[in-house]
Amino acid sequence: MAYTVQCMLMHAAVLGSPHPQFDHLTAMRNPSPPALVPVRIWDLPTRLFHWLLVLAVVGLIITGNLGGNWMVWHARLGLTVLALLVFRVAWGLVGGRWSRFASFAYSPRKLIHYLRGRAAANGVGHSPLGALSVWAMLAVLTVQVGTGLVTDDEIAFTGPLARLVETSTALAATAWHKGPGKLALLALIGLHVVAIVVYHLRGKRLVPPMLHGDKLLPPGTPGSRDDARQRLLALVLALGSGALAVWVGSLG
Ligand code: HEM
Repeated sequence: MAYTVQCMLMHAAVLGSPHPQFDHLTAMRNPSPPALVPVRIWDLPTRLFHWLLVLAVVGLIITGNLGGNWMVWHARLGLTVLALLVFRVAWGLVGGRWSRFASFAYSPRKLIHYLRGRAAANGVGHSPLGALSVWAMLAVLTVQVGTGLVTDDEIAFTGPLARLVETSTALAATAWHKGPGKLALLALIGLHVVAIVVYHLRGKRLVPPMLHGDKLLPPGTPGSRDDARQRLLALVLALGSGALAVWVGSLG
């Protein structure tokens, strides 16, 4: 054995290349993982949904703080978020594999295992912790949109559905919308961005896949369908969601 190793080292020293047997033995001891290949994880509709949602929510925060005439735009952006949420619910059922709710509906047990470090995320779609933040954000956004639709500030602004509820309900909804609801949303957005920065510092880059759609993964990892037919389906669903939001807005 000692002779074999000495022979290999001499081979490397003299020829400047490893002994063929050395390569073979190294490969046997440290089998290198197969080369990673780009796999489509976030289909185009999911990426458009995400970045339009970011724009709309930032616009809502700004216009909500400016108040006055900006409330017209606040209401329009709120209806835009309504359309986006309706679209996302539909896309969670029929969208690409990794955008489907079923792919990130983790049980509390799985989440606890993940948090305790006992189970690793598969590194493909949303991790259990990421999924929790996504569910929380979608839920808080839904409540913000719902309360915004029936809001009544008793001065100049009423939501399009305010007349369908009791005044006391509209006032309670307004108080939630401007108070705890807004704070919860801001806190979740802050956590979301901080988590992404922390992952980035640990070498896990989550933002590029949300821009171009692909992650580098072992060959054979199933991807999300993102072809022309699927995008056409998304367009039809987006138009339907938009029409629904316009109709809700017209009820005011
Ligand atoms: C108003 C602010 C934001 C909101 C409301 C928001 C909301 C969301 C939602 C709902 C998802 C889930 C996407 C889906 O499956 O449909 C998500 C994922 C994601 N967001 Fe945001 N986002 C915000 C800002 C940002 C910013 C500023 C960045 C980049 C720095 C970012 C990067 C990401 C990434 C990389 C994911 C995928 C996370 C993963 O791989 O699990 N988001 N975001």
